[in-house]
Amino acid sequence: MKALVTGVAGFVGSTLAKRLVADGHDVVGIDAMTDYYELDIKRANVASIGLDQFDFVEGDLNELDLVSLLQGVDWVFHQAGQPGVRKSWGDDFAVYTRANVDATQRLLEAVRQISTIQRFVYASSSSVYGEAERYPTQEADRPQPMSPYGVTKLSAEHLCCLYAENFGVPTVSLRYFTVYGPGQRTDMAFTRFTRAAVLGERIEIYGTGEQIRDFTYVDDVVNANVRAAQIDSPAGSVFNVAGGSNTSVNEVLDLLGELSGTSLDVNYVEKIAGDVYRTGGDTDRIRDALGWSAQVGLREGLEQQLRWARTTFGG
Ligand code: NAD
Ligand code: UGA
Repeated sequence: MKALVTGVAGFVGSTLAKRLVADGHDVVGIDAMTDYYELDIKRANVASIGLDQFDFVEGDLNELDLVSLLQGVDWVFHQAGQPGVRKSWGDDFAVYTRANVDATQRLLEAVRQISTIQRFVYASSSSVYGEAERYPTQEADRPQPMSPYGVTKLSAEHLCCLYAENFGVPTVSLRYFTVYGPGQRTDMAFTRFTRAAVLGERIEIYGTGEQIRDFTYVDDVVNANVRAAQIDSPAGSVFNVAGGSNTSVNEVLDLLGELSGTSLDVNYVEKIAGDVYRTGGDTDRIRDALGWSAQVGLREGLEQQLRWARTTFGG
């Protein structure tokens, strides 16, 4: 198959591209190389995909000639976006709407014109739920984002559903729940915590640390993408992709202390607006439709990330 991966220099996009190439598919990757975090990390991510069966196009989805790039493509994996719930307030909001809403709309308009496309997989987010109606949260529960980021991810998801309903674009939206593992972005908790454990740095916890996340290992997220591409589901489908951890940040620190054999230097600071108290996704729908369930538990996944942090950050 020929796959187009947007956001290919990022954490999830580069991990997915490596898997697709390993499975024998041809991959075209697009990335604007935004400076939200270190560019040398993104360059290394692209280099790690290799040159066989992989073409990299540096550019912005809001500017590229997408129809040309989509010629002959079977699967689109739309991972590009401006992530991060806590930075999406104030003037930065324009960056979020442009990267998450405008770029998705422009890509969908182009995809609509390409008859070879069998699936368009969109990287949605648990942040569409906000403080959810209930836990574990089901896909049909009312979305009520608590951050401007979540609003943009929900808008883009609605666009996917609109293009499915009106033009038959075969979209599938995957609502990822806090993805972690080797290569995780440097603004995210586990990369900061494991790096701090390796280098003996201080860890800052936003709020009490009692907040709960349904942490999801990156290979499980990649598997969900591959299954969403290969297995038929109705256009406009929406699925939770949740690891099942149901663990508080303080419990993560306890586990990391044990795995690293160090006593962590932890400082509690003020909670940041946009951070929900809890996420937790029901995964019956994706299990029934795509046969997906999380394979990597928190202990094993955190061990992998700690090993990666040791080689990446030294120490
Ligand atoms: P990331 O920042 O590592 O990767 C996103 C990539 O998209 C970046 O390399 C960036 O340069 C690129 N990009 C941004 N705007 C672009 C544009 N207009 N044109 C082309 N490229 C552009 O983020 P990630 O953690 O890998 O997340 C991937 C996707 O998954 C994002 O859409 C994010 O919203 C979503 N998501 C991530 C998580 C998570 O926990 N990592 C959870 C839920 C949803
Ligand atoms: C993550 C991603 O960053 C979002 O892009 C994504 O959309 C979202 O998951 C999602 O599931 O939809 P978040 O849960 O905030 O968002 O992920 P982390 O950065 O790993 O934070 C987890 C928890 O640790 C949060 O409560 C956060 O406040 C806390 N944290 C994070 C700290 O206490 N200190 C830090 O240095 C970093």
